[in-house]
Amino acid sequence: RPTPPPRQSTHPAPTKAWSGRLPETDPAVEQFTASLPVDRRLYKHDITGSIAHCQALHEAGLLSEQEAEQIRAGLAAIEEEITHNRFHFSPSDEDIHMAIERGLTERIGAAGAKLHTGRSRNDQIALDLRLYLREEATAVMGLIRALQQALVKQAKAHLGVPMPGYTHLQRAQPVLLSHHWLAYYDMLDRDYGRFNDGLKRALRLPLGSGALAGTNYALSRKRLAELLGFPAVTTNSLDAVSDRDFITEFLAASALLMVHLSRLGEEMVLWSSQEFGFIDLPEGFCTGSSMMPQKKNPDVAELVRGKSGRVIGALVTLLTLVKGLPLSYNRDLQEDKPPFFDAADTAKAVLVILVRLLPGLIVHRDRLERAAGDSLLLATDLADYLVLKGVPFRQAHAVVGQVVRYALERKKALTALSPAEWRRFSKQFGPDLKKYLTLEQSLARKAQQGATAMNQVAARIKELEGQ
Ligand code: ARG
Repeated sequence: RPTPPPRQSTHPAPTKAWSGRLPETDPAVEQFTASLPVDRRLYKHDITGSIAHCQALHEAGLLSEQEAEQIRAGLAAIEEEITHNRFHFSPSDEDIHMAIERGLTERIGAAGAKLHTGRSRNDQIALDLRLYLREEATAVMGLIRALQQALVKQAKAHLGVPMPGYTHLQRAQPVLLSHHWLAYYDMLDRDYGRFNDGLKRALRLPLGSGALAGTNYALSRKRLAELLGFPAVTTNSLDAVSDRDFITEFLAASALLMVHLSRLGEEMVLWSSQEFGFIDLPEGFCTGSSMMPQKKNPDVAELVRGKSGRVIGALVTLLTLVKGLPLSYNRDLQEDKPPFFDAADTAKAVLVILVRLLPGLIVHRDRLERAAGDSLLLATDLADYLVLKGVPFRQAHAVVGQVVRYALERKKALTALSPAEWRRFSKQFGPDLKKYLTLEQSLARKAQQGATAMNQVAARIKELEGQ
């Protein structure tokens, strides 16, 4: 039986935005579709967007100055209330946009009901998320810079301390500890660049796209962009309301950042083990065992490593969320927020704790020097020595391989072999070998740009300090 038309024309104060069309919503559906607990944190961004929208409506002649003023004041009061937990959220508030609009209309009446003119929650959420992302990316980038500075400080404080460099986690060649720290500096530099680059694409204003097709009102999008500090506006309304690339890019940058930090966390775990003993983590950043009284566990470093999984998962969630969606907006997109927020929170928390932890690292120079003193780390130098005497590298490699085998079988250091023993392997080994085959010389020879020689690393530190 069709619903009869109203007996007289009515302009009801709606209980829900769509109550004209759908008067009843099952309470279970209300709960199932609600996103308020998650998107509540966007309230400031939502209000910022609404104030700009209100201004554009006013400038387009759709709101009187008085109405615009009422809306602005109402929104400011609501912002205050939410900040101080005094705002009354209603169980029927589906999301933060609806809650604020309802609160506004209850507060100021008719003018509040005009705010949504020429706007959809679809372009509204697209805007809020971009505003939020701008803040988060900026915060992450600031923390990346802080961690880079902490790494430079460590590198400077321990300049000259040698250690074994590893490949396959097998001792390979000597490097400087400072060089190792600065490797993370470079990773973080690329991370910074990725966030910065993503921001360039994120900062396009979607407002004015309406639900999907644009709006019927002459709202100046250029003006809105100006008001909200966006350098440009989006150029396709269908894309603008369904695009979440900016979040995906942020998550991709975050995932890779977390992979780098996870590697750093792993090295802290490894190096602070009794087996390595290269460093001690500051006591305040370790935890004990509930059962074993002697334990000092690197839980912070482990969690740095572990939390990377959440952020990688967030990236996969977003990619999966969007991949099968037809244009334009689909409600699936509401699920973008939990992974986005969680990843941003996690990345920031991990950066903050590392910035605090790093200056407190205790470096065991003696252990590092002893490990770096392993003469087998000089095997490559030995091959290069023969090359300088005219032996082709492949042959030199084979000769040194035999020397290594010989020394290992006799439990002798390479540097402990006698001139007579050397000469049995190659006539080219001369008296200058003794001076050549030292840890210091090996390091000093790595003097190309980007290599581990002291002068290179020191110059790099200087360069980075100047930034
Ligand atoms: N809460 C929604 C979201 O986060 C806002 C947009 C709702 N749009 C809609 N057509 N139901 O995506």
